[in-house]
Parts: sequence; C-alpha cells; structure tokens
Amino acid sequence: MTQKIDFNDENSNTSNNPSFDSVLQARLSRRGVLRGSVGSVGTVMLASVGLSACGGSDDAVAAPAAPSSTLLGFTAVSKSLTDAVLVPAGYTASAIYALGDPLTGSTAAYKNDGTDTDYENRAGDHHDGMEWFGLDASGKPSLTATDRGLLAVNHEATTDEKLSSFFLHANGGTSTLPRPAAEVDKETAIHGISVVEVKNTSSKWATVPSSAFNFRLTCLSEGIQLNGPARGNALMVTKHSTDGTKTRGTLNNCGTGKTPWGTFLTGEENWAGYFTRSATDDTTRGGATAKSVVALKRYGRNAGSGSRHGWETGGSDDKYARWDISQGTGTATDDYRNELNTFGYIVEIDAYDKTKTARKRTALGRFAHESAAFGKPVVGQPLAVYMGDDSRGEYIYKFVSTKTWATADANPADRITTGDTYLDAGKLYVAKFNSDGTGSWIELITTNAAIAGFAAYTFADQADVVVNARLAADAVGATKMDRPEWCSTNVANGEIYFTLTNNSNRAINSATMPPDSANPRVYSDVKNGSSTQNGNPNGHVLRMKEGAAGNAATSFSWDVYVFGAESSAAPGTVNLSSLTDDQDFSSPDGLVFSPATGIMWIQTDDGAYTDVTNCMMLAALPGTVGDGAKKTLSYTKTDGSTLTVDTYVGKAPGDDKLKRFLVGPSGCEITGLCETPDGKAIFVNIQHPGETTAMANIADPTKYTSQWPSNAGYGAGKRPRSATIVITKNDGGKIGT
Ligand code: FEO
Ligand code: CA
Ligand code: CA
Ligand code: CA
Repeated sequence: MTQKIDFNDENSNTSNNPSFDSVLQARLSRRGVLRGSVGSVGTVMLASVGLSACGGSDDAVAAPAAPSSTLLGFTAVSKSLTDAVLVPAGYTASAIYALGDPLTGSTAAYKNDGTDTDYENRAGDHHDGMEWFGLDASGKPSLTATDRGLLAVNHEATTDEKLSSFFLHANGGTSTLPRPAAEVDKETAIHGISVVEVKNTSSKWATVPSSAFNFRLTCLSEGIQLNGPARGNALMVTKHSTDGTKTRGTLNNCGTGKTPWGTFLTGEENWAGYFTRSATDDTTRGGATAKSVVALKRYGRNAGSGSRHGWETGGSDDKYARWDISQGTGTATDDYRNELNTFGYIVEIDAYDKTKTARKRTALGRFAHESAAFGKPVVGQPLAVYMGDDSRGEYIYKFVSTKTWATADANPADRITTGDTYLDAGKLYVAKFNSDGTGSWIELITTNAAIAGFAAYTFADQADVVVNARLAADAVGATKMDRPEWCSTNVANGEIYFTLTNNSNRAINSATMPPDSANPRVYSDVKNGSSTQNGNPNGHVLRMKEGAAGNAATSFSWDVYVFGAESSAAPGTVNLSSLTDDQDFSSPDGLVFSPATGIMWIQTDDGAYTDVTNCMMLAALPGTVGDGAKKTLSYTKTDGSTLTVDTYVGKAPGDDKLKRFLVGPSGCEITGLCETPDGKAIFVNIQHPGETTAMANIADPTKYTSQWPSNAGYGAGKRPRSATIVITKNDGGKIGT
C-alpha cells in the first residue's frame, strides 16, 4: 500500500462548543410509528448479467419505443468490484469528456502517457460537480434545449502520492522538493473549472472541441473579483491585489449550484492544504493568540504545514511565490500572508460568457464549500442558499438575500451583475439542531452577543465574520456535523437534503463530539475482515423543513431521511433504515434532485464499504420530514454512565423507493450530476478511478488499479482518467424510469 495523506478529510474544528443543544423547544408532531427492525432482508442478489458496461461508444442504440413512466422501474445494479461503469439493463453509459481532452480545435489529441502539456486548453482533472446550460440552435441560452448545451465542470484535485500528481508526468514526476517548474505548471493548470459544449447528434452525445464557448479557469487565472462584505477589506490585501479586491484563480472546486438567473456556482473545498507556512510563522505574526494565527489554525494551516504539492518551490516567479503564506518583514502588500483569505468561497461564473469576470461571493462565508442549493424562489421573498462545510465536526449554513426575487431576473441581459444584486448583500446563518427534531438558524453578525463577546477571537467587522465564518459559528454554538457534503432542494416540496458523509471523530466518550440527535450513530465497522473503522463510518442523509417564513425562516424541523449502512449490519443500532442488498451504501456525498423526474440521486465517495463494492449512485423517491418515527439510541460510556440520544428516522425506503442505479470503476468516487431538461440524458462524473495505484508502478499499466476509461474503449493510453459520462435510456425514455 502506498502512503497517502487524505487532503479531503480535514479536521480543524477544535472548538469546545457542544455538538448538540439540550434546550428543548416545541415538540414536533410526528406521524407514523417506528418501523419494525427487519434487518438484513433476504433480497435476492441480482446477477450482473444484462448490465451494460460503460464506454460502449459503438453500442447500437435501439429504436426509441414508448418510454416507461414508472419511476425507479429499472432493475437494481448489484454491488461490484469490476473496473467498469455498470448501469441497469436498458441503459447505456458512455464516457464523453476525460482529463486532457482538447477544448480548442488546434489542441493536440491527448496521448495520456505523461508527455501532454497545454492543460489550459484541455479538460482538467478530478471532475466533480457539474451543471447544464442549454443552447438553442442559434447558440443563444435556452431553458428548454435538450440536444445542445454547455457543461460547466469542477476540476477538484489530482491523483497524487507525496507531492506529485504522478499520472500527469511521464516517469511519475518529482516527489521531493523543490518541484520542477514544468511539473508545477501542469498541476496548477488541471485545477479549477472547465466549460465545454456538448451536442447530441443522431442519438450520440459528444463534446465540441472547437466550440467558441469552451473555456477554462485554473487556480492561477487572472482577475477573479472579490465581492461582498470582504471586498477591499484589510484581510484581503496581498502583493497581487494591494486594494484587496481581486485574487488569482479558483481552487479545489467540489460541489456546484446553478442560480435562478442562469449562472454557475462552484464551491472551493480543501484549498487550505495547497499553501505552506513556515515553522516560525506563528512567532512572526505575534504568537498563538494573534488574530491571524487563531484564524489560520481554525482553517487547518498550522505553522510548519507543508503544502500538498510544493508548488511554492517551482521558481521565483510570483505564480509560485503565492503558495507560501508566511508573513515577511514588510507589509501585507509585500507578500502573501493574507492569500488564504482569498480562497474558500462560492464563486459565481457566467458559463455562457467567458469574457465576464468571475466573482467570489464573500457574503456566503468562507469555509470548505461543497454545493450551493437554492430554496424554491418565491416572487417577493428573499432567496435562500444552503451550504455545507465539509470537514469533521463542521457546520451547515444558509445565506438569505436582502433582495427579493423578481421573475424578470430569470432571464436577465447581464447575468453576472444580476448575481451582484442577490449574492453580495444578505444574512449568513448557521444551523443548530435540537434534540426534539427542531432547529434554528443563528445569524452570524457582529451584533450577536456571543460573537461580539467571543473570547477566542475579536471580530473587527462583518468582513471578519464572513471571512472567519467558522470562528463566528463556533461562538454561537452551532451543531458539529458528520462532514456536510452536498445539499439539494426537493423539487416536490422544497425540503432541503444534506449528505453527511462520515465522521471518524464522532465518539461516545468525546467531550466535544459525542453522538447527538442529528449525528446519532457511533459504531464499529470491519473492512477486509480485519481493519476496524469507528465513529460514523457510513454516513447519513439529513433533511430539513423550513418554518412558515420559508426561505427567510429562522427555525426548521428535521429528521434523517436515510442512514448509510451495510444491509447485514445490526438493524437496531446501525442499519436504522432497514437497507437491503439492492440499496445499501456508504458515505453519501453527491446529492442532486432532478427537476425532470423528481428523483433524488445519491452518489458515494466511500472508503468503508469498498472491500465489497466500488462507489455508486442510487435513485431515491423520498417522502417528507416527519414521515418516520423517533428512535432512542443508548451508549455506555467508559465511566459506566449511559448516554441516550433521541433521533428521528425517516420512513424506511423500501426497495421501490431507493435503488442502486450505477456502480463505478475501481478506486473512483461518483460525483456531480446534471441533466437535459427533458430528463432523457444525465451527465455524471467519475472522479479519480485508480487513485490507489502506487506511483512506483507508473511504468507498468498491469499494476494500475484501474484502466478506465480506456478499458471501455475511450481514449489513448492505459492511465486511468477522471471523466464525464452520459447516460441514456435505450428506449429514449427518462433516466430512472
Ligand atoms: Fe470534494 Fe467533500 O468532497
Ligand atoms: Ca464492513
Ligand atoms: Ca464532495
Ligand atoms: Ca468527496
């Protein structure tokens, strides 16, 4: 096994605020009774026969027949360790856009042998969140187009060992410092986002490499604007922007969102790990209690932290220097001491117009962002944007716009300045979950007494609050969650769903992160027959129903829609949702509701159940908050006392309401999903297949832990590549029927 640091499992919430609130509020009235524990139901394991493997780009597509209208009418896909994309019988999945694919007509085809360059004009790596932007026949934005559009795709990171993204380099690259400039330049260029045109011609989807719409933003792109309360604040001043109004690039782009006015939102997640700080930087900054030191630690950058790739060692040019955030001897305009404050945002981009300057929306708070989901827009009411902070014990947030929604803004002449009017002014809230199934949104504002009087950090102004949102949320006692990943709004009823992927720090005897009502499980799971994983290894999906004020509500009710678990796990304590073989899963991450069908797609990024199955995607037809029942879990602490936790378990989704739709190739995570407005094509990202490959085996493709997508007939070389796939139904019907 190779030694790899998991930069996607940050762990920097050391605050003392308890992870659940003991204050009881009004009880919810709950319908239904706790479903009997049926445990591991003896569902027949479905054979793999008849499942169509991905990449069959030459597969004949059957003549369209009358589409089935039965939601979840497909046969569930079995768990699998096969190095392929598996989808149900009657469906076809094909790779269309992989790492390195050209985005201009003059860019050379990707050789996939480590000699390729010019990544600013190619697809980036580690495809993640993704949104669809339709185009009509004349190339104008269209809400109804189904055969032509743009995909805006996040390129989160790269497969690495020690410092090197080894699949990008012919011999695996240099895993010691200093890093050669040529390697650094490739690695920075594969981060960021891409926009690529896609077209369906004679029932075959493909990218349009010569499209004038195509573009990239990398983590070094010039002129990204800082907007909102922190614009121009002293916290944002750097050598690159002496007035604190801009930065270079967007980094570690994970989840996505789409605004009601037709722009792309991308969340910056694990950006902190890319920057280095000298071992003496705490002292330089004034010691452990200096504000900038407290803030840097809270965001995971202790003095002496090395950077993920050592990009700061690429040379003397400023594009390398900016990755070292140590404070120098001059002022903030002389160095990059504040550079970390310019990352960690929801970034708004006009996917239709590459000439428009992207905006980092500081009003929505700075943290490890995943997706950004809008509550249902209602004319005359504020807009709400829901967001998660993915690190162990971090929080769930909501932004509520000052401006109220006007339908004229659904198709504005200037999309990005419309974004300025909704996303630069408003209120930022953090969620607190109560043990009775209610919860509250607490506004993060300087006038909040807990924030004004916070002992650990003195907030200078509202810019300081949004830039250091984690500290403000600590101050008000927000609920520490089991790693909030994606959120999405149920198109049927407006309820908000959040994936909580897993949390190895949740522990019965923990003073700061014991099990609580919204994160109630602590148990052990065994992997490969020997290694034990503790805490909440399999994650859960939580949902919230806003109070009467809707988007502007400051109270909500909640329950857990479903708990991830192995179907054979103990029904009374672990498999609380009675999952069967056809629907058991671990570590939910991507979460997207389909407006076309109402299906909720759940995608996994798992390391717990991967001895049994590769990561997967499931289709769900969820009910409503409160459709299940209360469940009390009891834990015995080491001092002999009993800890009881009340939680609320949604009605168990039977096999007809939750079903495995896809299993991915070896070592991948499944993430990102968008669809054509008719629901007849969905686009899904396969991230980091083969990431468990040892760098030492770079010259021997037989030792790659995946050869997807080349083993499915897509592209040159044998090195595994992150890629977008398109899924269609052979009878021309909607996906998931
Ligand atoms: Fe990029 Fe939290 O997943
Ligand atoms: Ca297990
Ligand atoms: Ca994610
Ligand atoms: Ca992830």
